[in-house]
Amino acid sequence: MTTHTAPRFPESLPAARTPDAGAAPPLRWGVMGTGWIAERFVASLQTHSSQRVVAVGSRSTGTAERFAGRFGIERAHPSYDALVADPAIDVVYVATPHNTHLDCALLALEAGRHTVVEKPLALNAEEARTIAEAAAARRLFCMEAHWTTFLPKYDVLQQVLDSGALGDIMAVVADFGEWFPPGHRIFRPELAGGPMHDLGTYLVSLVVTVLGHSPDQIVARGSRLDCGVAGQTAMVLSYGDRQAVLHTSILGNTPTSASLVGTTAGITIDGPFYQPGGFTLTTVDRDRSLRYEEPRSAHLGGLHYQAAEVARRIAGGETESPLRPLATSIATIAIMDEVRRLTGDLVAQERSTAAS
Ligand SMILES: NC(=O)c1ccc[n+]([C@@H]2O[C@H](COP(=O)([O-])OP(=O)(O)OC[C@H]3O[C@@H](n4cnc5c(N)ncnc54)[C@H](OP(=O)(O)O)[C@@H]3O)[C@@H](O)[C@H]2O)c1
Repeated sequence: MTTHTAPRFPESLPAARTPDAGAAPPLRWGVMGTGWIAERFVASLQTHSSQRVVAVGSRSTGTAERFAGRFGIERAHPSYDALVADPAIDVVYVATPHNTHLDCALLALEAGRHTVVEKPLALNAEEARTIAEAAAARRLFCMEAHWTTFLPKYDVLQQVLDSGALGDIMAVVADFGEWFPPGHRIFRPELAGGPMHDLGTYLVSLVVTVLGHSPDQIVARGSRLDCGVAGQTAMVLSYGDRQAVLHTSILGNTPTSASLVGTTAGITIDGPFYQPGGFTLTTVDRDRSLRYEEPRSAHLGGLHYQAAEVARRIAGGETESPLRPLATSIATIAIMDEVRRLTGDLVAQERSTAAS
């Protein structure tokens, strides 16, 4: 175990340094896909930012037109090809199922568009690296839309971590279980269903941020559902003496909270830890604690922060966000790959590649 000179427990929590989303340079966004997250992304940008959603692309004309009509979007494209060819857009937001992220991201990048891809960046690390290489080759901005990273709560949390107030962080304990209605894409193997890509990615991302990119050992156990996707997965990631203990499930709801256990203090992030909300910093002896609060506004009150970050970086001529570089996305997915390998949780595309 490493030793650490304990810093004083802070008198108060720092303020979030997150810039005002409304002050970010307005970009012209084109949205690829018209599903659950696309709706919330557009509504969040339109409500809380100066970003302009000027175009939407769908696999069908009617769906594109209905989505455009609902949100007052000027241009509705009947295909993703038509969307990325539209000269009126600065950046494409890919909001399609995980198994299509690689093709959709490459389509946008090859058309010369800056590209933001919903989480997880890709199905596996190999695909994620292909996206990163395509963006780098064209000097285009590319980022995984890991919206959690850009919430004010996580900036405050990062400042507390950087201050050393926790001492040595010895454990991360977190869960993410959610119930989904029958028929949801999460139960469809051909759309890379199961808990890891949708939910587990938040758990592993948190650990990568707090403990680092490369655990020295990964242990995992999983179960499968009759429909052919994983039902739940339990993971232990070891970093020397430090451990992350994680559980994700689509069998039912769990608290979805996260605890960072330090030698001098700990943080418990209220569930759902990946959304706007509060956390508590407490000394190990429970003598003192500080509470961070922000409105629990779910996606609508949080997705715009990542869009504002993208706008600032692109306006500044940058090709990545230092808050969520592609290397962090790739490291996260590489750990997920190993967990899925250990639990036999290959998705349909990977199974057919492995068999051929
Ligand atoms: N950041 C978050 O909090 C968050 C939350 C939920 C989901 N997500 C991510 O966002 C992505 C989309 O999830 P979602 O829940 O929005 O899914 P969804 O409701 O099923 O929507 C996906 C959209 O993708 C398009 N699409 C393209 N190829 C498709 C295919 N083969 N089958 C079905 N739809 C296809 C469809 O739009 P068109 O028919 O118009 O082409 C569809 O409406 C996933 O990668 C997921 O991980 C992120």
